[in-house]
Amino acid sequence: MGRTHRVKSLLWLSLLHGFLFLIAGSGTEAPSESTAMDISSRHFRAEYLQEWQGSVDAPYFDPSTPRNITGLVGHPVRLLCRVKNLQNRTVSWVRHRDIHLLTVGRYTYTSDQRFEAQHKPRSEEWALRIRSPQRRDSGQYECQISTTPPIGHAVYLNIVEPETEISSGLELFIQAGSTINLTCTVRHTPEPPSSITWTHGEQIINFDSARGGISLVTEKGLKSTSRLLVQRARGSDAGVYTCGPNNAPPAAIRVHVLSGEHPAAMQQGCAKSSLDKAAALLCFLITLHMLRPFTDGYFGT
Ligand SMILES: *[C@@H]1O[C@H](CO)[C@@H](O)[C@H](O)[C@H]1NC(C)=O
Ligand SMILES: *[C@@H]1O[C@H](CO)[C@@H](O)[C@H](O)[C@H]1NC(C)=O
Ligand SMILES: *[C@@H]1O[C@H](CO)[C@@H](O)[C@H](O)[C@H]1NC(C)=O
Repeated sequence: MGRTHRVKSLLWLSLLHGFLFLIAGSGTEAPSESTAMDISSRHFRAEYLQEWQGSVDAPYFDPSTPRNITGLVGHPVRLLCRVKNLQNRTVSWVRHRDIHLLTVGRYTYTSDQRFEAQHKPRSEEWALRIRSPQRRDSGQYECQISTTPPIGHAVYLNIVEPETEISSGLELFIQAGSTINLTCTVRHTPEPPSSITWTHGEQIINFDSARGGISLVTEKGLKSTSRLLVQRARGSDAGVYTCGPNNAPPAAIRVHVLSGEHPAAMQQGCAKSSLDKAAALLCFLITLHMLRPFTDGYFGT
């Protein structure tokens, strides 16, 4: 038996299960288990027979139903399902990862308190709300209609966390006298950071420092950036630079300022003369060799 088939029958079983739950919940007094069984099997048979007639007005998913939702860790997110022609069928939400039935009609089926079925009477929208989503909630979900066989509409949920990145990577090698140019990008924050602070070692970088030649340009938006420029780099500018937004984790980079004459001369020499490929490679290898004290341990041996 193929995996898809097995998954489908599992889904169908879970739907049927949910159906029992609905029937049991709809009476004013809870019917005994055997009554619920009788009613549901009668309904099941009726629905099954009706399907065979192949109705023209079968239910279908509104094509405008979103297929890819992005949410933030800890912030409520809603997966929407728009269904036309539902008639008396039931809409359910199922999590693919573990084939877990989350909602059945207007009822929340899962015991995970963060999930909630949302539906306004007579509307076409059947939503699944997740109150406090976590990264592990990312993945495929499916909205299903209880036709025979059930039809489904997959929705991908992507839960993201605030993140900070310095674009030059973890290490930067620059020549003494040139400009240290670091760009820090902050993404996926609920609102733009109110501050982005740069530090050099333990020292907060500000403009009235004796160092001079420092500038900062910050742009805030859906994605915020802060660019730090330190002109005419010298040995004392080497070290760890950290970019710390107020509402996202910090990111750090180690800057090495190369003061030796040789790497500088070598690189200039390489750049200036018009070299063929072999010479360029040789030049690169020699430069790499001269940088060994810095690159060892970073590139491995
Ligand atoms: C969903 O959208 C995000 C960005 O909005 C994208 O990174 C991701 O690859 C998309 N996923 C799918 C399954 O389409
Ligand atoms: C849906 O309605 C039809 C009549 O239109 C009825 O025969 C059938 O039993 C109903 N199915 C359910 C699941 O209530
Ligand atoms: C700094 O680097 C960015 C790209 O990483 C570049 O667009 C910008 O012009 C640079 N600024 C200076 C002053 O070098």
